[in-house]
Amino acid sequence: MCGITACVGDDDVVDTVLTGLKNLEYRGYDSAGIATLNGAGVRVHKREGGIDELVAEVDGVDLRGEFGVGHTRWSTHGAPTDENAHPHTDCTASVAVVHNGIIENYAELRGELSAAGHLFTSETDTEVIPHLIESELAAGKPPEAAFRAAVDRLEGSYAIAALIDGTEAIFATRQGSPLVLGVDDGRRFLASDVPSFIEFTSRVVYLHDGDVVRLTPGEHSITDVDGDPVSRPIDTVDWGSEDAERGGYDHYMLKEINEQPEALERTINGRITDDGRVDLEEFPAGAFDGVSEVHFLSCGTSHHASMYAQQLLRDRGIPAHAFTAGEYATTPAPVSEDTLVIAVTQSGETADTLASLRSANARGARTLAVTNVVGSTAAREADEALFIRAGPEIGVAATKTFSSQVATLALVIERLVADVTGTPSEDSEAVLSALQELPDLVNRVIRDSTASSLANRYAGSDGHFFIGRGVAYPVAREGALKLKEISYEHAEGFSAGELKHGPLALVTSETPVVAVFSGKHDRKTLNNVEEVRSRGAPVIGVAPESADNVAAAVDEFLAVPETHPDVAGILANVQLQLVSYYVANVLNRSIDKPRNLAKSVTVE
Ligand code: F6R
Repeated sequence: MCGITACVGDDDVVDTVLTGLKNLEYRGYDSAGIATLNGAGVRVHKREGGIDELVAEVDGVDLRGEFGVGHTRWSTHGAPTDENAHPHTDCTASVAVVHNGIIENYAELRGELSAAGHLFTSETDTEVIPHLIESELAAGKPPEAAFRAAVDRLEGSYAIAALIDGTEAIFATRQGSPLVLGVDDGRRFLASDVPSFIEFTSRVVYLHDGDVVRLTPGEHSITDVDGDPVSRPIDTVDWGSEDAERGGYDHYMLKEINEQPEALERTINGRITDDGRVDLEEFPAGAFDGVSEVHFLSCGTSHHASMYAQQLLRDRGIPAHAFTAGEYATTPAPVSEDTLVIAVTQSGETADTLASLRSANARGARTLAVTNVVGSTAAREADEALFIRAGPEIGVAATKTFSSQVATLALVIERLVADVTGTPSEDSEAVLSALQELPDLVNRVIRDSTASSLANRYAGSDGHFFIGRGVAYPVAREGALKLKEISYEHAEGFSAGELKHGPLALVTSETPVVAVFSGKHDRKTLNNVEEVRSRGAPVIGVAPESADNVAAAVDEFLAVPETHPDVAGILANVQLQLVSYYVANVLNRSIDKPRNLAKSVTVE
């Protein structure tokens, strides 16, 4: 959802800014631009299209400067055109601004600035920012004061970095959109996300809303909205640039699917004792005493992980509801102080999830963020945070983070059930032991999968339906989401029993049905398989390898190793990730950068 990056150094920073942009392309890829500042003023180059096109275009152009900002865009206001690409400038082209987020009062500001004679050249909300800075400079304010005064007028969410001619600094701030600072000996970096500059430094400062940063070569200062200095610690991230690179795979998505065994190792490492108990440092025994119900808030793939967790809790007799965050933000369910509200979010920056989390915080619930990103807004704003430790995920389609989210939530659930009921769940020992085996089992799924052979056969069908029951239902939904987002094939996921209440009308010999089995409630789902087969639909069954009854009832069988049914859904999902990947590959889709989508959606 738009990426911004910036660098200040003793030398020319153009290549560094372009590299930072390339590393952020997963956040948006419909237009891109760069601006630099040196003694000769502000220079801007921007265009519709991806970073590679921008790089080709600036080759040979003299953009040299020690101060640079860059932007890769996912359009919100205004089509992806050269004019709407960032950086945006003022009338005199002495201010250049990159922005991620939405300025909600831009129409009012634009009207006011236009009436004062400012000429606008784009349809974006962002363009008001350089004009506001320009008018504050014209009123006699020094650059930093002009930047602050302009920011003070903005409503909405933003991460902004600005170059102002005549100053030897970059100014930046954030409010509701992510912005991290990178610290290196002679350089300073800014970016929407750490992968942008991880190949240059692993030392980072997680900025807070309202922080105003001034970057100069080798130095930075951070102040609050009133201009008073604030101190933010420098952290060191525990992963490196190789984790954020493709590493020999054709796509990040395939790399990240293959990384799941290691990601899951990290997720559970140290969190299960040798004698088979949950050992969560953040949540010792008794940490969840008194919880009466659990709400999950999340979007997309994270919502499917939440639905999975909801099922596990309900199976253990604890009331649980998985809400889509966009709905909860506007129509929240009642909470009490005994309600545990869990925001499940890979990025920790999804605007819908943050809005719903804030609603729960404001109404007095106890809140917990389950996220992949240390220092993210969700981790900071929830009362407590638990990290899924999946490592950076660059592919727009979430894969390894789903597996790590479900595994983390399964651990939380076993702790919570033991605290709330006074005794471990009936299945606790078996589930924890299955989680310990999970990395090996996922490895086997990936090694033995025959998903690629299905792709040629079913790519281009009229529609694809996914069905399942219990934990296999969210997996069916996730399988459909993954297929539609990266292959653009029409796909829908249903609870298996619901199919006959309407969607069955769409089932024909041209609509393959993927039936997901976990080893629990399989007999009923087999009845639904018969219903679709008798309408001529080819059926692909994903089930534990011993499920001979399933193998006999379907046209194609994707087996997963035997494990506890509560964990089997994670394995089935890995098979479905591979199906989606290979279908998209056969159709020659832009797998890591699907059309209209971007990683980390920071607008509601
Ligand atoms: C789908 C996908 C999205 C995200 C959703 C929430 O593959 O990646 O559906 O799951 O945008 O993102 P997070 O988890 O960052 O809150």
